[in-house]
Amino acid sequence: MFINFWYPVSISTDLTDKPIKIRALGQNLAIFRDSKGEAHCVSDICTHRAASLSMGKIKDDCLECPYHGWKFNGQGECVAIPSMGVDAKIPARSHIDAYPVVEKYGLIFAFLGDLPEDERPPIMDIPEYGDETWAAVHLNYQWKTNFERSQEAALDPAHAEYVHTGMQFAGDKNDYIIPELNVEETEWGASTKAGLYTIGSEDWATEGEMKNVKQGAGQSNFHAGYFGPSTAFNRLNITGDSFFLINKFETPIDEFNTNVFVVILRNFLHESDYDEEIKKRSMFVAEEDRVICEKVDPAVWPETNIKEVLVPADKILAVYRQYLKNWENKGWRIDSRKVDENKGRVAYTIPSPARRTSKNWVIDSVPLLTAKEAKIHAAE
Ligand code: FES
Ligand SMILES: [Fe+2]
Repeated sequence: MFINFWYPVSISTDLTDKPIKIRALGQNLAIFRDSKGEAHCVSDICTHRAASLSMGKIKDDCLECPYHGWKFNGQGECVAIPSMGVDAKIPARSHIDAYPVVEKYGLIFAFLGDLPEDERPPIMDIPEYGDETWAAVHLNYQWKTNFERSQEAALDPAHAEYVHTGMQFAGDKNDYIIPELNVEETEWGASTKAGLYTIGSEDWATEGEMKNVKQGAGQSNFHAGYFGPSTAFNRLNITGDSFFLINKFETPIDEFNTNVFVVILRNFLHESDYDEEIKKRSMFVAEEDRVICEKVDPAVWPETNIKEVLVPADKILAVYRQYLKNWENKGWRIDSRKVDENKGRVAYTIPSPARRTSKNWVIDSVPLLTAKEAKIHAAE
């Protein structure tokens, strides 16, 4: 898992007047809204005696710890310690990590890392979002998979004929060849374009006009890629001018579980009457992937490529892994083995940007793999 990227922590409308506990990158976070409606994301661990802040209340735009009532504002500063009275001199070390937050695409994103603003990777752009010719629906579900395993399912062009029953072959033929993939690389990701044979919408739609969107089986083209370690997109041109844009923003809960937020746009049948049909269809396809992905062994990628046989259709996965390696070499990958070793004995938190300017922290920053350590693990 990687620090220094934007991760969705909630659907915007799910965060109202109560704090919510979020598990992300193997750590606990608390999110809450202040009286202006602004969302905040902070470490969930109280610096007094380690209570879970998300169990507390929102008071005076602060999160009030449920144990002894210390109050923390959205910037992570402790502003009140009731047992010391109103004139208390608040100890400098009492502050907690607070993370930059942005609400976009109907989701709350937190920047889980310590990079200063001008060095942060952006959130993946969806230019169509908000345009009235595109309708959007959201999905949120959890998979018992490592996020890299679920990303590879989103990128993989060769599984569709076997996993997704909406394809022509459905595993009946063994002579289809994925053409040489042209992988286009950008600063934060890569993508590829390919064709897929898909069944007509009359075979899956239950709602009126939806049945006519794609009549009969035929070629659909897609442009699929990733952006950062845990965001993927698939722009599926189902037929003519009709597009589904499937944007999958994932937050690793830990190494073995992933919280998936999907923003799906369509430029046809905008009426909200069709939203449920779109969600149902999308969940059906996601379930087809889930049952396979949750059972892969090992649950996380092997650390050397000699433990798999990759073929040309896996080209974009190989590129994705190279990008992960590059981010690992920047020192952004969490050392999960060390976190596990100290489970219940040492509490960690994701380092926030304020750690670059202040050294005074009570909770340990989550251990990160150095490039050298990553190589040692790979050799084990
Ligand atoms: S543990 Fe939070 S105020 Fe004491
Ligand atoms: Fe799939």
